[in-house]
Amino acid sequence: MKKIKIFDTTLRDGEQSPGASLNTTEKIQIALALEKMRVDVIEAGFAIASQDDFNAINQIAKKVKNSVVCSLARVKKQDIKAAYQAIKPAKKKRIHTFLAASDIHLKYKLKMSRGDALKQISEMVKFAKSKVNDVEFSPEDAFRAEPKFLFKVVKTAINAGASTINIPDTVGYATPEEFGKLIAEIYKNVPNIKKAVISVHCHNDLGMATANSLSAVKNGAGQIECTINGLGERAGNAALEEVVMALKTRKDYFKTETDIKTEDILNISKLVSNLTGILIQPNKAIVGENAFAHEAGIHQHGVLQKRETYEIMKAEQIGLQSNELVLGKHSGKHGLTDRLSKIGITIKKEQTTEIFIKFKNLADKKKKISDDDLINLISKK
Ligand code: KIV
Ligand code: ZN
Repeated sequence: MKKIKIFDTTLRDGEQSPGASLNTTEKIQIALALEKMRVDVIEAGFAIASQDDFNAINQIAKKVKNSVVCSLARVKKQDIKAAYQAIKPAKKKRIHTFLAASDIHLKYKLKMSRGDALKQISEMVKFAKSKVNDVEFSPEDAFRAEPKFLFKVVKTAINAGASTINIPDTVGYATPEEFGKLIAEIYKNVPNIKKAVISVHCHNDLGMATANSLSAVKNGAGQIECTINGLGERAGNAALEEVVMALKTRKDYFKTETDIKTEDILNISKLVSNLTGILIQPNKAIVGENAFAHEAGIHQHGVLQKRETYEIMKAEQIGLQSNELVLGKHSGKHGLTDRLSKIGITIKKEQTTEIFIKFKNLADKKKKISDDDLINLISKK
């Protein structure tokens, strides 16, 4: 089965989330947790961006042994030199260099011609390759670039030595069908593409980052760039937990696998949330508080009979001890009696209706009924 590499950029793009900055100790803690979870590549930062970033990457490079440690760099000598110095102690190292490929970025941001862009890409990828063997190149804003020019850019970067070509949807504009088609077109139109792995880097401005990344996999991409809890610029990046669990749960469809130890997902999600101070919405896929919780009576009854009636993943797969049947106004008798027996309270069959009515009355006033509420309710009887 084809393996999809997971490239985590929580410490680089994720840290670019407004208000998410992390100190070096916190970054090391996250990097070691990512390594333990068996992430293939850790983008530890952008070495030239600040002395703090440089130091954090350098410390991570000294500590992480199993994952590739990577630094971002513009296609500039001073960036590439700084990236190399920062990742130098790493056992496995990568330089990730980038230049915009869309006309809007070239004309207004970089004030550069397409010809000059190709020249700079070729020279700087070669320069990065003279420092490390593993070079990744990203044509920033690739999805909005003119496809024929994008194919030239990709060919040039591969000829210069890039072994991973990352295709970013920098502004989160693509739809899944279009993004998948772009990956297929790159395979068709870039003659040397077999010498590189195609990676994807999707932003979530329209809520399609995960779907776009998965559509790319369906069309041959071999690496997904993502972040824990979907952190990242603006609306963030594709969430690691979503892409990994989608590939695992729908192996029948994607026919691919990752090396990720999914049982670590919840812990690392909480770690990143605690350290960045960015809370997780309760209905967030996979790691939200409600992702494995059921309140409706019909659902609780179904899950109590057979879990798969309403669950497509096991809570244990992401490191949660079990699913949760939340008692509230939508719950039914099955959910109530199940919880009572779990907290050691047995009631006679003829008492059930009376207790159930009391429970419903309380649930109308209170959103969630706790175990203590149930104990009070029974003892008042
Ligand atoms: O969104 C983007 O295009 C990026 C690149 C630097 C890969 O983050
Ligand atoms: Zn990005």
